[in-house]
Amino acid sequence: MEIKKVGVIGCGQMGGGIVQTSALAGYDVKVMEVNEILLEKGIINIKSNFNRNVEKDRMSKDEMEAVLNRIKGTINLSDFSDRDLVVEAVIENMDMKKKLFRELDKVCPSNTILATNTSCLSIIDMSMVTKRADRVLGIHFFNPVPVMKLVEVVKTIATSPETIMAGKQFGEKCGKKVIIAQDSPGFIVNRLMIPFILNAIQMMDNGVATKEDIDTGINLGLNHPMGPLALSDLIGLDTVYFIANAMYAELKDPQFVAPPLLGKMVTAGWLGRKTGKGFYDYK
Ligand code: CAA
Repeated sequence: MEIKKVGVIGCGQMGGGIVQTSALAGYDVKVMEVNEILLEKGIINIKSNFNRNVEKDRMSKDEMEAVLNRIKGTINLSDFSDRDLVVEAVIENMDMKKKLFRELDKVCPSNTILATNTSCLSIIDMSMVTKRADRVLGIHFFNPVPVMKLVEVVKTIATSPETIMAGKQFGEKCGKKVIIAQDSPGFIVNRLMIPFILNAIQMMDNGVATKEDIDTGINLGLNHPMGPLALSDLIGLDTVYFIANAMYAELKDPQFVAPPLLGKMVTAGWLGRKTGKGFYDYK
């Protein structure tokens, strides 16, 4: 099945990035937010990213207008009744995701593929509230979506090969390298990244080295674009904490136990770049 019309639920950091990337790839995109204010905020953000591309001569103004014309906003899920693929990118809350999938299953034709951008939650759990578990999969983008070159396509034990193929083609048309993972907590990348980040936080808290030196060590010693503490600030400490807890709950593996400092920073509202303070100050 060829995907032409894409729906994205959520126009925040991840959802907005998926809208931007898929519209640029030529898809007709509808994006839903819970209210007009958040929708407008998300669309303004997308427009300013495209404007930067025009300023840097990466696209003409006409091209930008053509891409923006492919994006439509809505606050009604019923507007997704004509979509070939819907990707949800709302907060990591299983009840909310199940509610959305239940509603999407009613609104969308039986051949519409339903995807989640979850980074750690069980996709088979979400799929079981629908009558189309064979057409449910994970399409996991990375932050910042327009820049990162990877997509994890995640298959449950019920996902059909045709659905996996359609997800892979979508990711590739979006200009990403696609890797395939099983529906296992954290898939491939977070399964490796989360213990790495948690260890860095614990090392800092134990006084092994300063945050700057830990980050510089990984930045220059391993050639990562940023160290694990700066990366946590980019991802959001609440997100890192949530993923670690969800993975520990599922795997019962101590390498996913969040260090107390991480919980305290989340409680204090030090969530990283989005709140202006995390391991570093951004104000
Ligand atoms: N949206 C769109 N574009 C963005 C952006 C954003 N949020 N942030 C940065 N960019 C663009 C910039 O515009 C810039 O583009 P040009 O050079 O073409 O103008 C380019 O990215 C580089 O940005 P900067 O020069 O500001 O800074 P940088 O060179 O240090 O790169 C970075 C910033 C891309 C974030 C880079 O540091 C990086 O790749 N960091 C690692 C990111 C990473 O590992 N992400 C994965 C997180 S884990 C995850 O997402 C999975 C999960 O489930 C939690």
